[in-house]
Amino acid sequence: MGKVLVLFHSNTGNTRKMGEQVAAGAAEVPGTEVRVRSIDDANREDLAWCDGVALGGATNLGSMPWQLKKWWDSLPDEVWQSLDGKLGCAFSSSGGWGGGTELACLEMLIVLMNHGLVVFGVTDYVGKKHTLHYGAVQAGEPRTENEIASCRRLGQRMAEWIAVFVDGRKDLHPIARGYPRGSQH
Ligand SMILES: Cc1cc2nc3c(=O)[nH]c(=O)nc-3n(C[C@H](O)[C@H](O)[C@H](O)COP(=O)(O)O)c2cc1C
Repeated sequence: MGKVLVLFHSNTGNTRKMGEQVAAGAAEVPGTEVRVRSIDDANREDLAWCDGVALGGATNLGSMPWQLKKWWDSLPDEVWQSLDGKLGCAFSSSGGWGGGTELACLEMLIVLMNHGLVVFGVTDYVGKKHTLHYGAVQAGEPRTENEIASCRRLGQRMAEWIAVFVDGRKDLHPIARGYPRGSQH
């Protein structure tokens, strides 16, 4: 059974709302357990528990929030090399489109890569000209159908990859499932 940890920092609630949608998307995949944790509540047991981490933070000065970086920087040394092979992805809320949201996602992915997680992007289009190649990105909170779908697709894909690579459920590979994954048009 796949275990997804949605781990985030959020000052004003926008990234938290994204995380709730990411969690809802993961829960759509049969047999998936989901934990949603702010860094204020999360601990290393949550990291040990999960098969994959969906990491979220606001875009701050084109980067991940210092609070989130501090949380990872403050983990005990022995956590490093204990997370290898788990899956990882990122999501971020910014003040505006073009404000560096994908840069923040890439920073979060770098932290996950440093810990040996296998990180992924998503090729799908969830609506017209709306995709999430480097993670779910958002100006403010998710409101529109596409914005919500983008967060959900990220969580869904995380749960699908865990099902395929951890639990050997090849039938849950997104290509095998055959649901609409959209195109750029
Ligand atoms: C210190 C700081 C830096 C910020 N830097 C950016 C930025 O570089 N680009 C941007 O679009 N928004 C920026 N913002 C706006 C936040 O990314 C935005 O309000 C976000 O939705 C907040 O998410 P949260 O509610 O999860 O904290 C910044 C906000 C703060 C407080």
